[in-house]
Amino acid sequence: MKTFDVDAFAPPLRVPHLTAPPVLLRPFAISDLAMVRQASTDPLIPSITSVPRTYTDDAGRAFIERQHDRAVQGDGYSFVIAEDADPTSGVGSIGLWLQEIESGRASIGYWVVAAARGRGLAAHALRAVVEFAFGELAIPRLHLFVEPWNTASARTAQAGGFGREATLRGWERIDGEQRDADCFALLHDEWMRLG
Ligand SMILES: CC(C)(COP(=O)(O)OP(=O)(O)OC[C@H]1O[C@@H](n2cnc3c(N)ncnc32)[C@H](O)[C@@H]1OP(=O)(O)O)[C@@H](O)C(=O)NCCC(=O)NCCS
Repeated sequence: MKTFDVDAFAPPLRVPHLTAPPVLLRPFAISDLAMVRQASTDPLIPSITSVPRTYTDDAGRAFIERQHDRAVQGDGYSFVIAEDADPTSGVGSIGLWLQEIESGRASIGYWVVAAARGRGLAAHALRAVVEFAFGELAIPRLHLFVEPWNTASARTAQAGGFGREATLRGWERIDGEQRDADCFALLHDEWMRLG
């Protein structure tokens, strides 16, 4: 069994390819510009990520470069979610973020473009990242933050094995407002027991 070692997160990190049919996770590529363009039209995604609200090819390329930089700087792993039947066409993104890794915890965030929703793809992607974070990196605690109205995201978290812990009041600033968030968490030991 791998053991947690904070030194393993020294930059630069390498974003691996993960397979978890029916999805695969891979690093961002320039072929993902069309997906970034679609994501920029979503009412929520540009508010909670650095996806540009006003899309241009330059802004899209800068977004993709930022995703590569996250690994280079050691901030975390930013993956594209693609369907394994069409690996070059991304349908969304999932990130494993390491800002608090010295405390033994990491956070996860995800989005899927509207045209690819309704098939549970984010839950498949989440289970793949959990497997990587616990199985390969042995991170002790994973958590994610969901606005209380966001049932699709809460259901995704639960499908990934995460349990709701608390509502954090005024947790995050989104679109100029201090918003509540439900914290969902999964511990390495719990995941091991789930088998
Ligand atoms: C959250 C998100 C990634 C989920 O995408 P997805 O994988 O296509 O999820 P699905 O549409 O298959 O829905 C997952 C579950 O939520 C349920 N659901 C979806 N929309 C719902 C709604 N409006 N009301 C109630 N339940 C809903 C589905 O029925 C499904 O339930 P099940 O697990 O019982 O089958 C996607 O909606 C998204 O990108 N949203 C915008 C960005 C976002 O909210 N990111 C998360 C921030 S915390």
